[in-house]
Amino acid sequence: MTESRLTARELTLAYEETTVVEDLDLEVPHGRITVIVGPNACGKSTLLRALGRLLKPRRGSVLLDGRELSRIPTRTIARSIGLLPQTPVAPEAITVADLVARGRQPHQRWWQQWSKEDERAVTDAMERTNVAQLAERGVDELSGGQRQRVWIAMALAQETDLLLLDEPTTYLDISHQVEVLDLVRQLNHERGRTFVAVLHDLNTAARYADHLVAMKAGRIVAQGPPSQIVTADLVREVFGLDSVVVPDPVTASPLVVPGSPWQANGSGGDHAEEAGPGKNAERAGLKKNAAPA
Ligand SMILES: Nc1ncnc2c1ncn2[C@@H]1O[C@H](COP(=O)(O)OP(=O)(O)OP(=O)(O)O)[C@@H](O)[C@H]1O
Ligand SMILES: [Mg+2]
Repeated sequence: MTESRLTARELTLAYEETTVVEDLDLEVPHGRITVIVGPNACGKSTLLRALGRLLKPRRGSVLLDGRELSRIPTRTIARSIGLLPQTPVAPEAITVADLVARGRQPHQRWWQQWSKEDERAVTDAMERTNVAQLAERGVDELSGGQRQRVWIAMALAQETDLLLLDEPTTYLDISHQVEVLDLVRQLNHERGRTFVAVLHDLNTAARYADHLVAMKAGRIVAQGPPSQIVTADLVREVFGLDSVVVPDPVTASPLVVPGSPWQANGSGGDHAEEAGPGKNAERAGLKKNAAPA
């Protein structure tokens, strides 16, 4: 069992009268990539905010190295945990370089506003996310995907051991999605950083996660290595979707293929009435709940 530095115990999270997450226990495996998946509004962002101390638990606690987050000085937390929210808001008229530099704030002192170390961290983060050429541009004049990469650069510039990313690949085209997640993997391997990311694409999640957490209605339905937990039954339980699970041809991780596509005039004329996940799977020579190799 991998040790955990960040742990949620009997965590209940609420907005005023509405409870969103209830009695949730989670150990974030240290030095691994944890990915949270689940339907819209199930509480993923809420949980991530609590893990980053942006939201105070209603009951239970979040612990960093055994200490409750609420008892740790803000500056210490900011040097340990980075959080990229789902919809971050940039200050008006800020340039890319200035925004990324804000990631260094937790490391600065009043007597030393900017060090060589800060400069190195910012340059490194901008190069790794491929935004160095945008340095002098205004953040508000970038495309959605460019802006998203700038936010990721800012989070990386903070150089924390723990990084929480809420849908970091939103707005990114397929090649930039792969680029960003490969970067996460690389930072995890090379520097042992721990990541917790919320991702919407189940197949991407299954590819990149060491530890996958499936949530539904504020609770964890299943967690573990993707190869052990992603099954057609889980997909049905969590997303209410019929699917066939096959091995990803590139990584052998579980690949979820929705089972009943809508097709004009039925599925191949005469065969329309026999379309469906079972039949489609049979035709493809696959079992309905095929386990990955
Ligand atoms: N600031 C807030 N005030 C009140 N309710 C909120 C607030 N933020 C979120 N909620 C509600 O809490 C529930 C969970 O929201 P949350 O953002 O955690 O969902 P999510 O799983 O991240 O969804 P998505 O996949 O759409 O991002 C939703 O019903 C949402 O409307
Ligand atoms: Mg969310």
